[in-house]
Amino acid sequence: MGELPAGTITMLFSDIEGSTVLLNALGDRYGEALSAQRALLRAAFSSFGGREMGTEGDSFFVVFGSARDAVQCCVAAQRALAAHDWPGGVPVRVRMGLHSGEPARHEDGYIGLDVHRAARIAATAHGGQVVLSEATRLLVGSPLPLGVSVRDLGFHRLKDIEAPERIYQLAATGLPEQFPPLKSLGPPVPTVGVTPGVHGFPAVLTSFVGRSVELDEVAGLLARYRMVTVTGPGGMGKTRLAGEVARRVAGRFADGVWLAELAGVADPGLVPAAVAASLGMQQNGGGPVTEALAEVLAARQVLLVLDNCEHLINAVAGLCGTLLPAADDVRVLATSREPAGVGGEARYRLPPLGLPEPGQDGAAGGSAAVALFADRARQADPHFTMGGAAGPAVERLVSRLDGLPLAIELAAARVEALGVGPLLERLDDQFSLLAGTDRLAPARHRSLAAAVEWSHQLLSEEQRRVFRRVSVFPGPFTLEAAELVAGAGAAPAVLHLVNCSLIVPPRPGPDGRARYLMFETLRAYGAGRLAEAGEEPDAAAALTRHALQVAGQAAAGLDTRDGELAAAQWLDAEDASVHQALGWALEHDPEAALRLAIALAPWWLLRGRWATGYQLLAAAAGHAGQDGPEWCTAQLWLGLLTAASNVTTSFSHLTLVRDAFAGRAPAPVLARALAWRAGALANLGRVPEAAEEGRHALALARELGDPAGEAYALYWLGIAAGYVGDFSGAEAWLRQAQRIDQAAISGWIARHCTILLAEVLGEIGEATEARRYCADALALAREAGALYDQAVSLLTMAQLDCSAGRLAEARAHLRETMELYAQTGASLLLINCLELCVDLCAATRRWREAITVRAAWAAVRRAAWIRGEGQADELASEEEFQKPLGQAREALGPSLARAAEERGGAMTPAAAAEYVLLLVTGEPGEPAAEPARPRLSARERELVTLVAQGRTNTQIAAQLSISVRAVGSRLDRIRARTGCQRRADLTRLALQADLVLPAYRRAWAAGRWHAPAGGQPRTRRAVA
Ligand SMILES: Nc1ncnc2c1ncn2[C@@H]1O[C@H](COP(=O)(O)OP(=O)(O)O)[C@@H](O)[C@H]1O
Ligand SMILES: [Mg+2]
Repeated sequence: MGELPAGTITMLFSDIEGSTVLLNALGDRYGEALSAQRALLRAAFSSFGGREMGTEGDSFFVVFGSARDAVQCCVAAQRALAAHDWPGGVPVRVRMGLHSGEPARHEDGYIGLDVHRAARIAATAHGGQVVLSEATRLLVGSPLPLGVSVRDLGFHRLKDIEAPERIYQLAATGLPEQFPPLKSLGPPVPTVGVTPGVHGFPAVLTSFVGRSVELDEVAGLLARYRMVTVTGPGGMGKTRLAGEVARRVAGRFADGVWLAELAGVADPGLVPAAVAASLGMQQNGGGPVTEALAEVLAARQVLLVLDNCEHLINAVAGLCGTLLPAADDVRVLATSREPAGVGGEARYRLPPLGLPEPGQDGAAGGSAAVALFADRARQADPHFTMGGAAGPAVERLVSRLDGLPLAIELAAARVEALGVGPLLERLDDQFSLLAGTDRLAPARHRSLAAAVEWSHQLLSEEQRRVFRRVSVFPGPFTLEAAELVAGAGAAPAVLHLVNCSLIVPPRPGPDGRARYLMFETLRAYGAGRLAEAGEEPDAAAALTRHALQVAGQAAAGLDTRDGELAAAQWLDAEDASVHQALGWALEHDPEAALRLAIALAPWWLLRGRWATGYQLLAAAAGHAGQDGPEWCTAQLWLGLLTAASNVTTSFSHLTLVRDAFAGRAPAPVLARALAWRAGALANLGRVPEAAEEGRHALALARELGDPAGEAYALYWLGIAAGYVGDFSGAEAWLRQAQRIDQAAISGWIARHCTILLAEVLGEIGEATEARRYCADALALAREAGALYDQAVSLLTMAQLDCSAGRLAEARAHLRETMELYAQTGASLLLINCLELCVDLCAATRRWREAITVRAAWAAVRRAAWIRGEGQADELASEEEFQKPLGQAREALGPSLARAAEERGGAMTPAAAAEYVLLLVTGEPGEPAAEPARPRLSARERELVTLVAQGRTNTQIAAQLSISVRAVGSRLDRIRARTGCQRRADLTRLALQADLVLPAYRRAWAAGRWHAPAGGQPRTRRAVA
């Protein structure tokens, strides 16, 4: 016997399944069977160079220098066992498991985790089955030995082994292929932020009538087209139908159906931000919104309902033109008067409600138009019946109104006051009036105009005045706001307008307050009357006063810890109004625009609307006289809004403030600007200057009695100290921040000072106290609904757990963080999660996973950088980050390390996120409920691989030279078979099957990556 193989070896464990049963069945002849089994196996071992390490009863432990030989040995052995003539005709079934690694040599054998792993892997198999680990699969390489193939059985949890192990089954001609599920603890089932159901749709207070054909048709179109636009004149029922379709198809979208109401968005530039806000995204870091949206949506299966797009149709087309090709499982249902003209869009012309057939008296009750009238009339007048003369009159009426739902509702609302007959007469008059003026308008427009006009004429002068004044609100408004724009006595008129269906009854907004709303068509009509009356500027100025009042009070609330949540939700509810007012003020009242933009800045910052907020504030500041106090405040906020995305820009805004104060008495705004300037300096690598500027800011803030300025200064002083490894210095600064009256500073900075203190305490080993501060910050962030801050607190918690060796807790906290990542779209968060995941893997000596995640981390960092979310200096330190993995590389050996690295380097951000979840999901030892994955054909594996690489259906189609539709239908088949609905699920499937190939690298190498020059050892920080 020669030397034992060294380096990477492949281990085979085998034993007889059910040997006790066999013993009972064979009795005395068991010994004979056992000997035959041993002889057959030993013959195979020796012909393929296997070294027998241990034999016990019916089990073997054998090692091979070559994985390929080990595989061929197992095939030969199984064939020999299958062909043998067993005593008593009772076949002996042997299970076999292969795993490769570099276990340590010990005495005359091997020891190490990989030996245990090999035994555990073998134990999952059934008699007659051969299973192999990912490591062995990689080592065997391709092509596999002739007649041999492997079937992927997915990731499995093994007893006492933390990392989920991907297991393959060997298949070879002449051997059985069908076995029950592996005897593992079960495959893990992770998910990233799934939120099925409908979101953002207002509660429906009235019944829905007819439209069953239209519902089927639109739902059918949505199955075939990426975008469906329901078109028709105002009042046709587009919005209502879209809501019903959304509820109907919600089950098809694993990540839910989300409504973005665009009627109130005046500025086309704000469309992406409005859509992001309606998805609940709190994106931080100030990157471009459209791209953050694309990243969040890339792996999700979502239906976006974009309601009332007409006035923004180009912006909507632009957004959909970007999102749809980048996110194949996103569909859009839009309502608009005209289609958007996007590739892949289907237009659906919504017809009027079904009308009674002419001359079919009595059958009319069955028409949808009549049913709608009857329902709404009963709502206005509980005594209303269709009996007697009413029936035919209603039929004529709804036909006269062309089956237009809004017109029918307006008419029905008047039935109590007028009765059906007179109602019809008056409408007839109105039509003849209109016929004289507007012959060319399509009939349906005329019927709506007639109904609206007529309904309007029935109002008193005061009611008309209130109607046109409140049409200045682009979105929902409170009664108090109505009184502000329409005069103190406006409330009774508003209530009357609700009774006449000219205003929608109040519904609670995000802040819980009841708000009224006008249908777009009626609002447009009212706006026309407002202009006619010459009251437009006056009403717009009143709206601006309202916005200033709301934003001013909310800003004060956002400045305090206890007022933060209510203030932010208040602005969420007034979103449309404050932005409309800002748009008007930018053109007509620059001074008000500046004040309004400054008041909105803290909310933009909190909600992650950094980029759009920056643009609006910059526009407002452009009008302002330079160096004035408000100009200075604007520069401060401009600096804050760019702190995370563009340090240089941030630095120059903050420097402008410093310079403006030269030779002038200092004010809190100066102290705050200096504090943030210190932050910019630190992030620019000028740490000594940062420390000096920070101390200056601190002294000034204390002198001026400005606790917020003090907190900012202490935060950045802490960061700057941390950058140079002076953690006790950092601790001292941050403890001072804890002594500031927390009620006097914003929750936002309070949370971040607390999280940072926790991090610093962790660095100096004060784990208990660190965890306490972290828990405080998390509780505060939860109270404030601040998703990003929750995520950062949880991540810090996970970091603390990891360094304290509390690995189960670390995994749980990291998992929670990952779920929040899906809602923020903040790349920095994912990057930090990956970094921690590497530590977690290394802590449990999961070397392969550690190397894979590290490579994924580098890939995601590059991707973020290419998107413009980072600076060259962030790439500088990659080499340094390789170092800690030296041990992993050594333990693994070069070939396995390279394979692990290639796997991670090929991951997109979405794939990396799924992989982290795979690694941290569930407790080891906890069985998961997911059934074993069905087998995929080679073609299907190829498709899934491409999905996991972040390829769109169009790109896949081009690569495989098939049609996009064919890609879609094949994916649908895979979905149906595997139960993997979302692209994220398919990505996970690919990860479990190790199907992710190095393609991503090529993508970035072709991008604008270039070698960075010098830089910082740490990831750049911002309070975010
Ligand atoms: N099928 C329907 N059943 C009941 N009410 C409807 C129906 N279609 C429209 N409506 C009502 O008609 C009014 C106008 O509809 P809406 O969907 O806002 O029109 P659009 O979006 O085309 O302007 C709303 O009050 C709506 O509830
Ligand atoms: Mg509508």
